[in-house]
This record gives sequence, structure tokens and C-alpha cells, in this order.
Amino acid sequence: MAIDQLPLQPGQPAQLTTLNLTFRPMTLSDLSSVMVIERQSFSTPWSKNTFRQSIDKKRTYSHCLVAVCEEIVIAYAHFVLISGDVHITNLAVAKTHRRLGVGKHLLKELLLQAREMKGELCFLEVRVSNIAAYSLYQQFGFQVHSIREKYYTDNGEDAYLLWIPDLSVLKLS
Ligand SMILES: CC(C)(COP(=O)(O)OP(=O)(O)OC[C@H]1O[C@@H](n2cnc3c(N)ncnc32)[C@H](O)[C@@H]1OP(=O)(O)O)[C@@H](O)C(=O)NCCC(=O)NCCS
Repeated sequence: MAIDQLPLQPGQPAQLTTLNLTFRPMTLSDLSSVMVIERQSFSTPWSKNTFRQSIDKKRTYSHCLVAVCEEIVIAYAHFVLISGDVHITNLAVAKTHRRLGVGKHLLKELLLQAREMKGELCFLEVRVSNIAAYSLYQQFGFQVHSIREKYYTDNGEDAYLLWIPDLSVLKLS
């Protein structure tokens, strides 16, 4: 079943406790679902080829995970881990499944995996207007490191560079 055939539609409330959420590495067969979510989530979406490259096993520093509910991909995230630095480059939840706690669970899983892989410092860029994402990251202890001016090429918007200086002290129970 494709993401746009999901039983849950916008406006129909659901609770995460009723969603059976599991996580696994992204595979080639996930890409069509991932692209639907990517296009509904970002004004400058990644291409299918960028995802293909990101899951290429030769890129040992590149990690893509998906959140699956009822065998359907409803969210995903990508991070790069180089010399202990974890860069979260992409994270999105299907519109149909937002505000159910999926983003929170996905970010927690990502941080647990990154720490398990010896990640120490974690950082990411977020649009200054992206209140939802900013609030999510704040809940995990991300702090504003600096502002990257005119970081986004589509509208010249600034980015907050958010970071957690030391993942080892993060409480992720
Ligand atoms: C940001 C995003 C991943 C959040 O996913 P989500 O599954 O809806 O988030 P959750 O339900 O887990 O909510 C976690 C927290 O995020 C914040 N949040 C999420 N949506 C919000 C909204 N619309 N407005 C304000 N805060 C919001 C809240 O702090 C929330 O905690 P709370 O439920 O205790 O209030 C999702 O909105 C999304 O995919 N957006 C488009 C892609 C994107 O912007 N990615 C981030 C790029 S840096």
C-alpha cells in the first residue's frame, strides 16, 4: 500500500499508542513512499537520487532510517556521522501522521542509534520560521549555536544552527 492510501486521513485523530511504530534502515523499495512525504514536507525536496546515494552501503557515514506503521513508511530521517559529529540532514513525518508523537519517537531513535555508533556532538539546521521542528528539537535539549544567514536558497531564509554538544549526557529513557 502506498502512503497516500493510508487509512488515516488528515482530520481523523489518532493516538501514537494505537500506532504500532517500528524503525529500520531505509531501502530502495521505500523510496516511492519517502518521496511522497519529502515533497509534501519541503519546498526544496531532495531528489530520489539523493536518497539513493544516501542509502548506498559504500557511504558508511550516511544513515537513513524509516518509521513504519502497519507496513507503511510514515516518517524517515537521515544523518551523517563523521569523526563523532552527527549531522541531522533530513527528518519528516507524513502529513497524515503529524502531531501524534511520531517525530518525537523518530528523533529519539535517531539519537539512540547515533550515540550507539559513538556519535558525540549533534547538530542540524532548521528554518527560523519552522516552529514545529524547532519545538521538537528544543524538547530534546538542542540549543541555538548560531544563525546561518540566508541559508535557504529558495527564499533567502535564515537557519538556526542547533546543537547538542555532548550526546553522552542526554537522557533518552
Ligand atoms: C517537524 C515534524 C517532523 C514534527 O513531527 P510530528 O510527528 O508532528 O511531531 P510530534 O507529534 O512528535 O511532536 C513533537 C513536538 O514537536 C512540536 N510540534 C510538532 N508539531 C507542531 C506544530 N504544528 N506546532 C508547534 N509545535 C509542534 C511540539 O513541541 C511537540 O511536542 P508536544 O506534542 O508535546 O507539544 C513534522 O511537522 C514535519 O515532518 N514537518 C515537515 C518537515 C520538517 O520541517 N522537518 C524538520 C526539518 S529541520
